[in-house]
Amino acid sequence: MSNVLVTGGAGYIGSHMCVELLQNGDDVVVIDNLSNSSTASLEAVQRITQRELEFVDGDVTDADVLGLLFADHRFDAVVHFAGLKSVGESVDDPIKYYHNNVNGTLCLVEAMSAAEVKTIVFSSSATVYGIPSKVPITEDFPTGAINPYGRTKLVIERLLEDVYEADPSWRISILRYFNPVGAHPSGEIGEDPNDAPNNLMPYVSQVAVGRLPYLKVFGDNYPTRDGTGVRDYIHVVDLIDGHMKALEFLEDAPKLAVHNLGTGTGYSVLEVLDAFQSACGKTLRHEIVGRRPGDAAESYADPSKAVSELGWQAKFDLARMCEDAWRWQSLHPNGYSSEGSAD
Ligand code: NAD
Ligand code: UFG
Repeated sequence: MSNVLVTGGAGYIGSHMCVELLQNGDDVVVIDNLSNSSTASLEAVQRITQRELEFVDGDVTDADVLGLLFADHRFDAVVHFAGLKSVGESVDDPIKYYHNNVNGTLCLVEAMSAAEVKTIVFSSSATVYGIPSKVPITEDFPTGAINPYGRTKLVIERLLEDVYEADPSWRISILRYFNPVGAHPSGEIGEDPNDAPNNLMPYVSQVAVGRLPYLKVFGDNYPTRDGTGVRDYIHVVDLIDGHMKALEFLEDAPKLAVHNLGTGTGYSVLEVLDAFQSACGKTLRHEIVGRRPGDAAESYADPSKAVSELGWQAKFDLARMCEDAWRWQSLHPNGYSSEGSAD
């Protein structure tokens, strides 16, 4: 049993991590500034698990809050989800992104170092590969993000590498997520974007539930099997299983390791739309529009390093990802702020 600090634990992925840790018997403290979430997710986490967690309403850029937090608790590990993740917003306001993501991680690592807590799992992203020259993508591909959000992830990766190089007693896991989707099978927690969604799956879900009129498919002239963009969608529960395996892997010995978390299979936009239509039993309107700037034609992982080193493999297929996303969305048509369900 461990005592784990989950930064950004009220968010989409972090809340699923809290469920898994609590069900594993671990104690959980969440620090979240609720900039893109609410405590409703944490209430749901506690209902699902029938266990309590401790919530600190605080910001990881606040060294005083972190100092108190680490003085009050003896953490075995930190799982660091707290961050801003909108590519478009990062282009408009890079300073906000560097401050929140890079400075937030720096403050966190300083507090960890001072408290002699040296185990961290960090949420990186396949966005660090930029536009890949081929697929599938292995961890040794050249990195080169093409927007400020992606560059904050790369700077943080470099920061963690430098920390490890200076003090190899750290245990650092950098997980590069491909496209996390889906929801906990209970339907009680899931993705709840504040504004109109940027990402495909939450957009399709909101079309299905009637919050948005139709899906705009960004381009149908890519060199892919049906001309639409191909991505490696991964069920959030599988993704979290990867974090649990990463924490176990760090227990063996001090190390810094980088792993892709993806299924290894790519699906096109139209294939995702088809699968979602089957899951929700509705035909969903869509229109082909122009390409979205900065989009790769194809991106999917070679997950074999995670398979061999972490003993981890994604289990859930696209149909299950869509079924679980739809259960969450139909039970909570307006996300955490809603009551009642859609028909
Ligand atoms: P999310 O926005 O749902 O969760 C992030 C949480 O962090 C939110 O609850 C937010 O309120 C909190 N937060 C943000 N800045 C904070 C700060 N300074 N101090 C304290 N709390 C703060 O996003 P998510 O999808 O759960 O993503 C979690 C992490 O995974 C992020 O770092 C994101 O960049 C990374 N990631 C996400 C995806 C994806 O597609 N969802 C893909 C790759 C990587
Ligand atoms: N797409 C549409 N219409 C939409 C939204 C998306 O056609 O309304 C298409 C995109 O063009 C792309 C595919 O659906 O071909 C997936 O797009 P997403 O925005 O869901 O995912 P991306 O792979 O573009 O990017 C996401 C995050 C990035 C992250 C990356 C890898 O937005 O921050 O996954 O983790 F870096």
